[in-house]
Parts: sequence; C-alpha cells; structure tokens
Amino acid sequence: MSNLHNLLEKAYQTNNLAREEIIDLLENITHTDREVLYNYALKTKQDKYGNKVYLRGLIEFSNICRQDCLYCGIRASNAKVERYRLTPEKILACCDEGYKLGYRTFVLQSGEDLWYTEEIFVALLGEIKSRYPEVAITLSIGERRVETYQSLFAAGADRFLMRHETASKELYETLHPTMLFDNRRACLTALKGLGYQVGAGFMVGLPGQTFADLAEDLQYLKELRPDMIGIGPFIPHSETPLGAEKGGTIEDTLVMVALARLLIPDSLIPATTALGTLHPQGREMALKAGANVLMPIITPTFVRKQYELYQNKICVEDRPEDCRYCIERRIQSVGFEADMGRGDSLQFISQRTTESFGAS
Ligand code: 5AD
Repeated sequence: MSNLHNLLEKAYQTNNLAREEIIDLLENITHTDREVLYNYALKTKQDKYGNKVYLRGLIEFSNICRQDCLYCGIRASNAKVERYRLTPEKILACCDEGYKLGYRTFVLQSGEDLWYTEEIFVALLGEIKSRYPEVAITLSIGERRVETYQSLFAAGADRFLMRHETASKELYETLHPTMLFDNRRACLTALKGLGYQVGAGFMVGLPGQTFADLAEDLQYLKELRPDMIGIGPFIPHSETPLGAEKGGTIEDTLVMVALARLLIPDSLIPATTALGTLHPQGREMALKAGANVLMPIITPTFVRKQYELYQNKICVEDRPEDCRYCIERRIQSVGFEADMGRGDSLQFISQRTTESFGAS
C-alpha cells in the first residue's frame, strides 16, 4: 500500500485536504493510487447524485471575442478564424431543435461579443422561457457589468458558467493580457450573490502551471462553492502564442476531476469535450472518476468548425441528433444512465427547500 493511501482515505471521509496535502498528492501519486482516487470519487458521486448523468445542449452562438487570451483559438488577434454570429432567431431555432431532442437545459456560449446587448439577451431569454418554461438556461458569455448579470437573471437565466481559468494571479495575468484576475473573481462572486447557479473551473497543464497552482484552484473552488465545476486539459492551438507549448495530460486532468468531486462533493462536474479530444474515451474515464454531466453540442453543423477554442476538437462534423445519441451510448457503455431533466445542483435544491420552508 502506498503512503498516499491515508491521504486519499482522508479526502474521501472528510471532503477536505490541506494545501500541502494536495501538493504532496499531486507530486507523488502513482498509477495504483490514481485508481483508488477515482474509485473514491466515483463512490462520492454515486452517494450524492446516484447513477445519473445530466445532459445539457450546448449552443456555441458566436465566435467573435473582444478578449485576447493567449491559449484560445478564438482570441481577438487570431485573424485566421472565420467569424460568425447566430441571430437570436437562429438561436431560438437551435433551442427548438434541442427541445425536440429532449434537452431541458440549454447552454448559450460565445466569445465576449458585445453585439449581443443586454436588451437582445433579455428578449431572447424571455422568448425561450415563454416557449419552454420548464427549461434551465445557462449563459456562458464572459465578463459583463453586474447590472447586466442582474437583468439577465431577472429575464430568466438560471445558471452562469465562467471558469476562473487558473487561481494563480500571476499566471492568470500572463495568460489574459486584456483581463484582470480580481475582476474575474468579482464577477463570479457577484453572479453567486445574484442567485445564479454558478460554474467555475480551470485548465490543467497550462504552460508554467505548478502543482501548487492546481492546489490553489481546488482551494479557491472550496471557498467559492460553485454549483458546477468545469475542468479540462489545456490543448495548444497553432494560431495562438501558445501553439508550440505542451498540453495537459489526461491523467493529470482526471486526477483534478476526482479531487474536485471529493473536495466539493455537491457539485455538478462535466466530462469535458476537451477530455474527449485528448482521448477517444476521455469523457467516459471522467465519468468513472466523479464527473456527472455531459454537454453534447447542438450548434448548427455549418459553424461548428469555427468554434475552435483548441485544435482537433471532436464532433465538428456531427449534427445535433448524432451527438445526442452518441453521448447516450457512451454513458450507457460505462454503466450510467442519461438524465434529460434540468439537473439542478444539490446545493441549489437544498437552498430552495430551505427558502420555501422559511416562507411557510
Ligand atoms: N485548450 C483547452 N481549453 C480551452 N479553453 C479555451 N481555450 C482552450 C484551449 N486551448 C477553455 C477555457 C474556457 C472554456 C470555454 O474553454 O477554459 O473557459
């Protein structure tokens, strides 16, 4: 038995590890320890969420971006991407199609594209909610003013995804020349305060990222207590300044997914498309290491290739219905069950229950 066994057992029993313990674990973990870790994470996920994997329909509605993140294929400085922007009518048509395929959560994701004003979003959210009152709408549109976040919440947005990307201030500011570390965190805190179910998260294997940085990522998540946690490997894109760098590995990413499950057990954790890009079974492996969400793409096929945040992204030739059934088969292949419901986080459900008891 390795000497990490006690640490892993402690993480499972207490959902807590000190920063030094996380670093020790990341530095010394062996192949055998990893399997033990994944099993603990899986048990934790099963205890909390059972056998279900929640599906979200992902609509990548614009690849136009005002930011210039060093790693990202749709950064403003990349002149080689053909840019696109779906009209609100087209986005609604994607929702109609997604709804018919059974999705009850739509994730609207884009670059930071200010063409979509607060007014446009408010009208769009209102229309989606009037057509489909029972769906949950998740926005993933980056940094805006708190007042805008507030209006969008009032207009019907339920959730907001915005990864913190890395908890190291120094690394964050090197990678994001057009953004501020403190502002990112302020946005996440504000979104939480407004009542959104919030998703944060980070990339694994960024150039210069240390184990201490990754320990910090987990500690930050523990503090923020987000409803959702997105973790994916960094994958270099040749048309960016980091094109020649090494990317993150599948093993390191899975270890971080499993640790996130142990330390923030109530969270919803997607098996990310980036993991599926690194390895044909990457997403299934993540499901077996504690993840419990999948986000099949329902973006129209004719623009999919252009939403290339990293190279060799999978599913770019597929149609929404292909992804729907491919994903379901993958979930079944590892013994889980696809759930098409809203799939709210346990934290959100328990808060709502407390509030309604309080009101009665
Ligand atoms: N490799 C992996 N993930 C990336 N993202 C952006 N560019 C890359 C890349 N090159 C991730 C960021 C962002 C999310 C939508 O995609 O973490 O928040």
